[in-house]
Amino acid sequence: MGPAGPGARPGLALLLLLAGAEVLAAASPPAPPLFNVSLDAAPELRWLPVLRHFDLDFLRATMAHILGNKVPKWVHALIGKVVEELARFLPQPFTDEIRGMCEVLNYSLADCLLLNLAYESTAFCTSIVAQDSRGHIYHGRNLDYPFGNFLRKLTVDVQFLKNGQVAFTGTTFVGYVGLWTGQSPYKFTVSGDERDEGWWWENVIAALFQRHYPVSWLIRATLSESENFQAAVYKLAKTPLIADVYYIVGGTSPREGVVITRNRNGPADIWPLDPLNGAWFRVETNYDHWKPVPKKDDRRTPAIKALNATGQANLSLETLFQVLSVFPVYNNYTVYTTVMSAANPEKYTTRIRSLG
Ligand SMILES: *[C@@H]1O[C@H](CO)[C@@H](O)[C@H](O)[C@H]1NC(C)=O
Ligand SMILES: *[C@@H]1O[C@H](CO)[C@@H](O)[C@H](O)[C@H]1NC(C)=O
Ligand SMILES: *[C@@H]1O[C@H](CO)[C@@H](O)[C@H](O)[C@H]1NC(C)=O
Ligand SMILES: *[C@@H]1O[C@H](CO)[C@@H](O)[C@H](O)[C@H]1NC(C)=O
Ligand SMILES: *[C@@H]1O[C@H](CO)[C@@H](O)[C@H](O)[C@H]1NC(C)=O
Repeated sequence: MGPAGPGARPGLALLLLLAGAEVLAAASPPAPPLFNVSLDAAPELRWLPVLRHFDLDFLRATMAHILGNKVPKWVHALIGKVVEELARFLPQPFTDEIRGMCEVLNYSLADCLLLNLAYESTAFCTSIVAQDSRGHIYHGRNLDYPFGNFLRKLTVDVQFLKNGQVAFTGTTFVGYVGLWTGQSPYKFTVSGDERDEGWWWENVIAALFQRHYPVSWLIRATLSESENFQAAVYKLAKTPLIADVYYIVGGTSPREGVVITRNRNGPADIWPLDPLNGAWFRVETNYDHWKPVPKKDDRRTPAIKALNATGQANLSLETLFQVLSVFPVYNNYTVYTTVMSAANPEKYTTRIRSLG
């Protein structure tokens, strides 16, 4: 008992209660809304039921903010002139989906396309794929983005339906047709982390006219089309892209986990799990894994430390979420955390994060 005697008890009880409430609040951040998007509906129409749940003025304000901050003036002017020609080079159904939403938002197709491309730059992220002692594969990611305050309100989990059944699931921002995070049930999971090699817009525009894929569109196309982990890795490694990126892929069987470091034209490196030699996890942030990480942005070492502390036997979606909650892996820019395991598709979990 403390020197203040019994009189201190209510204070202590209150403190414990408050501490408990804080732990609870920290342990259960909110889930984003979940929507079905039917791929059986026409591309121009399929997102409109989702848009109805959002304040279109807020959406327009966010678009204007991101376009103003992320898209250089010369890019805006150039795309405005060539958009109809460009649209013929872009893969479907993405372009028609953007066209359909754009009409409802009363924005030009050029602006909506640019917005979909703008998100592809400056996303700082952490992805982890790992295998527990029994051979189960887990995959988690933090998506970090500088305009988090807007994007937290626009983050959604989406189930894409084919013939009325869930074909694949992903997490995205309303108005953005690509996926940075997704799951093909009982097959594989994918996340993407940005890999910025400079001259971003110049390279993107050139590559678009060569029919290269936007990086997040390829994740969605892979989730939609690839039959298994191997096929997904092959497609993600080989398909020409408009920008460099890291793709992290998890499967359903032991050793099915890999980090693919992509150049625009093909793979720069393939880095699989190697659990027999102790490599039961792979951590990818925004730097090539074979190079040292810059001191000013080291999220890699803290993530590895947290995984080491967790231990392979103790790995689960819950402990992986905890690893993704360690500062600075979880930081002021973190918009959402997703943890998933293709073998247990119903456990797909996204939480909106908000530290700053
Ligand atoms: C749509 O945008 C155009 C041009 O920006 C504007 O003139 C028009 O009033 C807008 N229409 C609606 C319904 O907001
Ligand atoms: C989404 O579609 C699935 C499969 O048809 C259905 O079971 C579920 O109730 C739907 N969910 C929503 C939120 O509409
Ligand atoms: C994690 O554990 C491995 C294996 O014991 C060790 O080699 C590595 O240095 C540890 N890394 C960190 C950052 O703690
Ligand atoms: C399991 O992992 C959690 C989260 O990383 C950690 O706090 C806990 O100490 C670990 N438990 C064991 C038994 O290693
Ligand atoms: C994160 O946000 C908090 C609260 O707004 C602020 O005090 C802190 O300086 C920020 N940290 C960084 C690294 O920006």
